[in-house]
Amino acid sequence: MEINWAELKAAAVQAMKHAYAPYSHFPVGAAALVDDGRIVSGCNVENASYGVGLCAECGLVSNLSMTGGGKLIAFYCVDGAENILMPCGRCRQLLFEHSQTGMLLQTTSGIKTIEEVLPDAFGPRDLADGFGSEQRG
Ligand code: THU
Repeated sequence: MEINWAELKAAAVQAMKHAYAPYSHFPVGAAALVDDGRIVSGCNVENASYGVGLCAECGLVSNLSMTGGGKLIAFYCVDGAENILMPCGRCRQLLFEHSQTGMLLQTTSGIKTIEEVLPDAFGPRDLADGFGSEQRG
């Protein structure tokens, strides 16, 4: 499927404008293209109990499930200045779970795959019941 990076960035910027980041003052927006062509997005939502704040990617994967599921094929994340932002370690794991093999990300050092930014990942296939073999393709 054709990846329109400009459209993905615009969706990430729009999402970033909804961020609730009164503690860090660091708004984040994330957007991803799903294998059926739709775009899902999310923003960070912080909390007075700082450690339980939600990254933008949390909202994105929730949006993915709520709007029909599917596999992510391309991802773009921005900070408040609309610059590319790398997903944090935990969020790389979140994205991995819902990514199609070879999902592309815009990174601060060019386009990379999810496998490059989360090498030797633990994932659904590593669980004893093999549940993930049909979950991640
Ligand atoms: N943040 C995200 O939303 N996604 C990331 O991948 C990196 C960090 C948020 C969490 C927190 O609200 C703010 O950025 C500062 O760390």
